[in-house]
Amino acid sequence: MNIVILAAGMGKRMRSALPKVLHPLAGRPLLSHVLDVARALKPTRLVVVIGHGAEQVKKAVGAPDVQFAVQEQQLGTGHAVQQALPLLDPSVPTLILYGDVPLTRVSTLQRLANAASDGRYGVLTVTLDDPTGYGRIVRNAAGAVQRIVEQKDANADQLKIAEINTGIVITPTAQLGEWLASLKNDNVQGEFYLTDVVECALEDGIEVVTSQPDEEWETLGVNSKQQLAELERIHQGNVAEALLVAGVTLLDPARIDVRGTLTCGCDVSIDVNCVFEGDVTLADNVTVGPNCVIRDASIGAGTRIDAFTHIDGGKTGANVVLGPYARLRPGAVLGDEAHVGNFVEVKNAVFGRGSKANHLSYIGDSDIGARVNIGAGTITCNYDGANKFRTVIEDDVFVGSDTQLVAPVRVGRGASIAAGTTVWKDVAEDQLVLNEKTQVSKSGYVRPTKKKA
Ligand code: UD1
Ligand code: CA
Repeated sequence: MNIVILAAGMGKRMRSALPKVLHPLAGRPLLSHVLDVARALKPTRLVVVIGHGAEQVKKAVGAPDVQFAVQEQQLGTGHAVQQALPLLDPSVPTLILYGDVPLTRVSTLQRLANAASDGRYGVLTVTLDDPTGYGRIVRNAAGAVQRIVEQKDANADQLKIAEINTGIVITPTAQLGEWLASLKNDNVQGEFYLTDVVECALEDGIEVVTSQPDEEWETLGVNSKQQLAELERIHQGNVAEALLVAGVTLLDPARIDVRGTLTCGCDVSIDVNCVFEGDVTLADNVTVGPNCVIRDASIGAGTRIDAFTHIDGGKTGANVVLGPYARLRPGAVLGDEAHVGNFVEVKNAVFGRGSKANHLSYIGDSDIGARVNIGAGTITCNYDGANKFRTVIEDDVFVGSDTQLVAPVRVGRGASIAAGTTVWKDVAEDQLVLNEKTQVSKSGYVRPTKKKA
């Protein structure tokens, strides 16, 4: 099939300079969600109709499999589809989706396509308690669809109809050009309505069928920030549900946000208020404490991530302990059983098996061997203001508290660094290194007192 996604509208009610279809749901543009669904249906042609913010939309979602049709003026949904027509394959049906309706399931669209097979015209409809604002499905006494009438054009009887047009339709393509060209805009809104194509199809002897989604929310669109927030909650609820079904423990399924892909092993437990972004993998038996933000990371089996840990790119081995308040940045690679504790930042650095930095440290551009103990307040001085350099610390080194390692520098296997040392020259294996300082003691010292005004 061809797929056309309508995305030319401005979205006035969003009250934003950003084109409506680029507003993020789960961290990605609304339109990207629609494109995901479209791609899952393996379309012959995939066309997005753009108008408002066309260049911005193109830039955000442009891809080799997407073609764009520009609708300079938004003269209605029928006019919008007309712009895409030259890009379509006339020999297969065309499915029309909306760039601001992001949660439609592939199975629902597949069912609609099946209902409309053999050249029928298919409309995805739902029956609502409150159909206000939507186009109504008008049927004859025999129950066959006759036409769709817009809210603004409907008479009192038609307004009572609860079955509405979701806007999603599938149509034969060969005759579509003729039908669209025959549309008139003699309606209340002065627009060329795609919905009027139903009557054209019927006149040409085409059967019009309807199909329903599994869930009402699949057809909800975004016109305002309230609706965007509502759909975000529905989406996050669906993600949480899927995680629970997969066996993940969520201490509160209403308090997790996944903005990307979260893949979990067996017996993973996630406490409240965690945000997952990009591609995150948690292996078996990982526990995540409350209030963690984890982006683009792969976490090894049995690892414990304590509260308020922030991970932005990183990889851990098995049984690592992170946090509370740890920070991993891109290129952090922690070996099995490593510990990175509170207020420790690790960037572009490798920790060997069992190495620990438990308190208040910055470890950047470093290669840390196995079983290294890094004392509180250790800083790798990796930057001279112009260039970055590496620090190498070999296996079984003991780094005393408040040490500065001025890179490039290498500390040999088994060496010990005394507390408060600035290491600016390489240290050989098994050496003790310290900076000479004297401790001066003065007896009977009197502290200053606050002057009276
Ligand atoms: C449309 C349907 C209505 C249905 C409702 C479902 C028509 C005439 N009416 O009404 O039956 O119940 O959707 O939400 O089709 N768009 C363009 N170019 C245009 C006009 C619209 O790209 O010239 C895009 C919009 O950006 C939007 C979508 O088409 O994504 C729907 O347009 P909108 O004006 O919101 O249609 P409705 O009046 O809601
Ligand atoms: Ca709408």
